[in-house]
Amino acid sequence: MSEPVRIRLHPLGRELALERGALLKDTLFAWGVEFPCGGRGLCKRCRVRVLEGSLPVTEADRQAFSDSELAAGWRLGCHARAEGPLTLEVGQWETAILADDTPFEFTPSEGLGIAVDVGTTTLVAQLVDLASGRVLGVRTALNPQAAFGADVMSRIEYALTPGGLIRLRDAIRSEVGRMAEELAAGRELRRVVLVGNTPMHHLFAGRDVEPLSHVPFQPKHDGLEMFQSNELGWGLDGNPPVFFLPCLGGFVGSDVLAGLLATRLLESDRLVGLMDLGTNGEIVFGSRAGAVCASAAAGPAFEGGRIRWGMRAATGAIAEVLLRDGRIECRVLGNTEPRGICGSGLVDAAAVALETGLLDERGRLLCNGEAWQLCPPVVLTQKDIRELQLAKAAIAAGVRIVLRRLGRRPEEVSRLYLAGAFGNYINRTSARRIGLLEFPEERIVPAGNTALLGAKMALFLIEQGTDVFEQVRRRVEHISLAADPDFQEIFVEQMLFTPA
Ligand code: FES
Repeated sequence: MSEPVRIRLHPLGRELALERGALLKDTLFAWGVEFPCGGRGLCKRCRVRVLEGSLPVTEADRQAFSDSELAAGWRLGCHARAEGPLTLEVGQWETAILADDTPFEFTPSEGLGIAVDVGTTTLVAQLVDLASGRVLGVRTALNPQAAFGADVMSRIEYALTPGGLIRLRDAIRSEVGRMAEELAAGRELRRVVLVGNTPMHHLFAGRDVEPLSHVPFQPKHDGLEMFQSNELGWGLDGNPPVFFLPCLGGFVGSDVLAGLLATRLLESDRLVGLMDLGTNGEIVFGSRAGAVCASAAAGPAFEGGRIRWGMRAATGAIAEVLLRDGRIECRVLGNTEPRGICGSGLVDAAAVALETGLLDERGRLLCNGEAWQLCPPVVLTQKDIRELQLAKAAIAAGVRIVLRRLGRRPEEVSRLYLAGAFGNYINRTSARRIGLLEFPEERIVPAGNTALLGAKMALFLIEQGTDVFEQVRRRVEHISLAADPDFQEIFVEQMLFTPA
């Protein structure tokens, strides 16, 4: 038998020995790497990057990656064979960045456009052929503003310090510009469309964020922003126009407006909801007859913030907690030692604790000692549970108030789309068990990156004139939850972990 080939996995730092020529897939699977399309080369979720050594480029790699991605060392883990020693970075274990490849309806036009989802944490840009609707290239990056604060409130605070706004504005403009230049690679673009939450909209445009720093969180300028790419300092051929789509009001940004386009919520005969759960939970319910939206200040618990062992959904995060034959089991991203717990794990953990009597409906931990030893070294404290209760209550109260404004009841909701990464990974049974979502499971649909899909649709819609987005805005009423006289009462009621 030939000498085994040594493969090091980054960021785990583990070394594996494989028979020369063996498919990496089988071994990587045992280490928790998922192969969502079954290795057919369609999803790219199995991608690995060669940090040391070399992996021959296969035909499937050529189909899946651009030349610059191949040059950067990206390969499909499902097709790769171990021919020599390697150090591999496993793309799946990076911070989850959701792109989008959902087919959509459009009126063909010509040329190329770029759609960008400007998230608080991550950025995703896609190059789109406006004749065929095909995505020709994707770039993802972390939002460089994170160096000045992890969440929107800390960025707003930073923006209010001398020179802060300009620094944040320039950081995001230059990163998105770099991604657009890479995607365009010297080709002329017709236009670029950006979407994001209200603070991202303001910071990109360089608008004063002071009105977003206090009640009633009412932006002064939240309409469509238009630029020529050269005024942003971008080196794009043909100097295409760049649009940041308008917000819907308050903290409900154009990411949700794009989500309305993507889910066709405003064309539905039946009542439909769309929610993006994060530090700011954005909530919209409606139908063809119109919609109501609001943002709920959930706090950072769903993103692992203010939780003693909290972290984002990355390698080492407990992402799932299960009860199997009476025993509690934790699933850790990257199949490694746990380093912390992310939002989906936290919701699961609370649901399991309720089931096993470790937690009561009022949110009191009933274990011995001051913390629940979930999976060493990760523990959950009483304070962690309180943070989860606050987040859960803010969202559940927001849903109640929005539906009440529409004069509708939860059981009338025919479908609830959950946008964003957390919405994709959250366990619906657990979310119902803790009373976060009260809709029947089959009506809750993980919808992926609806902001990016809507931004792509907007690349085409804008041909009808920029007023199309104003028309959408006019059909959606924004309400302030804090200004609702019953909010406090409903919020306190929703602090209970009452199962749906
Ligand atoms: S598993 Fe989908 S591309 Fe490899």
